[in-house]
Amino acid sequence: MTYEPNPNRYDEMKYARSGRSGLQLPRISLGFWHNFGDVDDPEQARRMMHRAFDLGITHFDFANNYGPPPGSAERNCGLVLAQDFMAHRDELIISSKAGYLMWPGPYGEWGTRKYLLASLDQSLKRLGVDYVDIFYSHRPDPNTPLDETMGALETAVKSGKALYAGLSNYGPSGTREAATLLQAARTPCLIHQPKYSMLVRDPERGLFDVLTEFGIGCIPFSPLAQGMLTDKYLHGIPNTSRAGKEHGFLQEQEVVKALPKIQALHALAQARGQSLAQMALAWVLRQPTVTTVLIGASSVAQIEENVGCLKQSSFTTEELSLIDQITG
Ligand SMILES: NC(=O)c1ccc[n+]([C@@H]2O[C@H](COP(=O)([O-])OP(=O)(O)OC[C@H]3O[C@@H](n4cnc5c(N)ncnc54)[C@H](OP(=O)(O)O)[C@@H]3O)[C@@H](O)[C@H]2O)c1
Repeated sequence: MTYEPNPNRYDEMKYARSGRSGLQLPRISLGFWHNFGDVDDPEQARRMMHRAFDLGITHFDFANNYGPPPGSAERNCGLVLAQDFMAHRDELIISSKAGYLMWPGPYGEWGTRKYLLASLDQSLKRLGVDYVDIFYSHRPDPNTPLDETMGALETAVKSGKALYAGLSNYGPSGTREAATLLQAARTPCLIHQPKYSMLVRDPERGLFDVLTEFGIGCIPFSPLAQGMLTDKYLHGIPNTSRAGKEHGFLQEQEVVKALPKIQALHALAQARGQSLAQMALAWVLRQPTVTTVLIGASSVAQIEENVGCLKQSSFTTEELSLIDQITG
């Protein structure tokens, strides 16, 4: 089957600039943490990449360790990129990251120059591309000087192997320090990737302020709390869900604990005339600092439903305070 992208792919999607940069990202981006590894159906993965691009989703987010096994999401999707997307490489923003365990020994994780630059070379090979658009430090490393980690991002950009630098999982003060170093190196931080959803609100405590001050964009991950902020778990835990699968990262107890909140939020979403997933994404996108929301998906239907959040994105003050009450 030859893939012919939808000629109208830019008609419906909305785009926003990342912080003070000129780079526009789609308001919905697709992440490849789950559902694109060797344990997953390659045809389904390929269909999701096609459908996402057809809907105007121009940003695909990877990391070295996505799979399982680690590396397999980049390798599998690299084959699809080579087969179906090479004519469209310049229409895509492809990111990767390094920070978590990737290979054994003292150089296979965290934030040294040795690890980050070796990992970037490996990611480029697996993805089959000459450069990634964004290269992230995936987590702060308490045992490596920050200027070494930021120096590696600077080298990645100045060598042309990445176009922009990003930070993920850095707190407000670490972000401030890192952004200052990157600014001095004339490799400004394009974007920050924190965990943020109606159930996880840490970035509201200082991080968003730092991002605004430095003109850094924001791409929150797990905006659906790994699927909990959808209608999927309202009536139990399906075997095919992330919480039901052996290799899924979501624990069954987490879902059970959150269920009363999920039910109350579901009722509110119904009253607004949208699905809980759509309301959860619109709620993240309402933050002025947020450039794009980084979803995961296990089917084409989920991607389609989630993009539908753009149709109703405003909230009344009453709705926002009800969400605050429900989520505590
Ligand atoms: N920087 C970091 O440290 C970090 C950490 C985690 C993730 N990320 C990035 O963020 C991306 C998104 O994270 P995430 O996958 O946790 O995001 P998420 O959007 O919160 O959860 C995605 C999961 O929710 C379920 N889902 C999605 N849409 C649905 C719908 N409409 N109806 C029912 N269920 C739906 C699917 O799970 P089922 O499989 O159950 O169907 C899907 O895999 C990752 O792929 C990765 O790129 C980054």
